[in-house]
Amino acid sequence: MKILLLGSGGREHALAWKMRQSKALSQLFIAPGNAGTASLGVNVAVDPNDFAAVKEVALRHSVNMVVVGPEEPLVRGVFDYFASDDALKNIPVIGPSKKGAMLEGSKDFAKQFMAKYGIPTARYKSFTRSSLADGFAFLESLAPPYVLKADGLAAGKGVLIPDSLSEAKRLLEEMLSGMFGAASQTVVVEEFLSGVELSVFALSDGKSYKILPEAKDYKRIGEGDTGPNTGGMGSVSPVPFATPELMEKVRTRIVEPTIGGLQAEGVCYKGFLFFGLISAGGEPLVIEYNVRMGDPETESVMLRLDADLVDLFDGVAKGNLAERACRHSPQAAASVVCVSGGYPGSYKKGAAISGLENVRECIAFHAGTSAADGKILTAGGRVLALSSTAPTLPLALAKAYDAAEKVEYEGKYFRRDIGKDVLP
Ligand code: AMP
Ligand code: GLY
Repeated sequence: MKILLLGSGGREHALAWKMRQSKALSQLFIAPGNAGTASLGVNVAVDPNDFAAVKEVALRHSVNMVVVGPEEPLVRGVFDYFASDDALKNIPVIGPSKKGAMLEGSKDFAKQFMAKYGIPTARYKSFTRSSLADGFAFLESLAPPYVLKADGLAAGKGVLIPDSLSEAKRLLEEMLSGMFGAASQTVVVEEFLSGVELSVFALSDGKSYKILPEAKDYKRIGEGDTGPNTGGMGSVSPVPFATPELMEKVRTRIVEPTIGGLQAEGVCYKGFLFFGLISAGGEPLVIEYNVRMGDPETESVMLRLDADLVDLFDGVAKGNLAERACRHSPQAAASVVCVSGGYPGSYKKGAAISGLENVRECIAFHAGTSAADGKILTAGGRVLALSSTAPTLPLALAKAYDAAEKVEYEGKYFRRDIGKDVLP
C-alpha cells in the first residue's frame, strides 16, 4: 500500500514511524514532512491545506490512502474534497468529514452536540456581539476563574482563563470585537472545572471504534505548569490516575455516546477522535474534542500501541475495524520536547542540531526540523520530541531525559518535570 501522510510535526513523525513497521506499507509520502520523516519516506513540498496540490501528489504517486495529521485540512474539508472528486473518490482519507471535523472547528457546535447526547461537559452559553449584555450577565452568574473560548480554530490560542470578573468582561468584549478574527465572532463562555487532565484517543470507522493508549500532556512552557501555553512540552502514557474504573466511565459516558451521536446525526467519521478530558473527583468531563491525534501525546501513544497501524487504517477505510487487533503495550512511554529559546514567543530558526547520533534507547521524533547541506537544523518552536519506553514510567522518563541532555543546539530548552505530578 502507498500512503500519503499530511503534516509536518512530531505527531506525523511518530505516525510515520509506526506505519513504517507494517509489512503492508510499500511507500510512504509525507507532505510536507520534516527532517525526521525524510528517513522513513519521501517528503513532498506540498501544503496540506492546498487541496489541488494534495490531489496532484496523490494521483502522481498513485497513493492508495491519505492519512491526515493536523486539524486544519480536516476542518477545511479535505475528506469531502476527495469523496466528491471522480479521480480521488476511491482513495480513502483517514480523518473525519467536514461536518465531523466541526467537533474541533466549532466549540459551539461541539457543546450543542454534547448537550444533545448527554455527554458530560462544563455548563456553558455562547455569545456574539449582539448578545454581549447577556454574556456579561452570564459571567456574573459564574464563579471565578472564567473560561472564554473562541468558537473557531485559533492556532491553539483561543482559550482564555481570566481570574477576575472585570477582566473576563473586558476579554469577552475584545474577543467578540475580533481578537482572534473570525474565530471569535462567537465565544463560548463556560464554567471552570477543576481536576486532573487526561487525553483519550479513539480510532473509528464510523460504526465501531478502538480506544488507543491514554496519555497526559504538559501544555505550559514552565516547570510546575507555569507561564504561557505551548503546543505541548511532553507527554506520558499510561496515566496512573486513569484507572480501569475511570476508563470505563470514559468509554460508556463519553466515547460511546459520541460515536453513537455522530451516527445518529448521519455524520461520516472515519478517523481519530481525541477527547480532552478532566477528571473531577473521578468523574470524567469533556473539555474539548479534537478530530486528530494530539501532539506530543502521539509520540508516547504510538510507542505503546501494540497493533499494525496500517492494518487499523485499512479497517477504518473498509469499515471492518472491529475485526482488527489493537492492544496496548504494558510498557510505559514518555516524551520530552526540546524547544527553541524564546518559544512560545519569538525564537530563532536555523540553528544546527548536533548529538542526535548519541541518542540511545530513545527515539528522537522530529517536530520542527529541516535538513540542509547534510545538517539538521531547527525549523520551529518545538524542535524534537525525545521519546522512550521502559517497564516503568520513571525509567522511560530517565531515558528521554538522558537523550534531551545529549542533543545540542543554540537556545535548547526543555521542562525537567514531565510526568512528575503523576508519579507516587
Ligand atoms: P483548549 O485550547 O481547548 O485545549 O483549552 C486549553 C486549556 O484550557 C485546556 O487544556 C484546559 O487546561 C483549560 N480549560 C479549557 N476549558 C476548561 C474548563 N471548562 N475548566 C478548566 N479548564 C479548562
Ligand atoms: N497536546 C494537545 C493537542 O495536540 O492539542
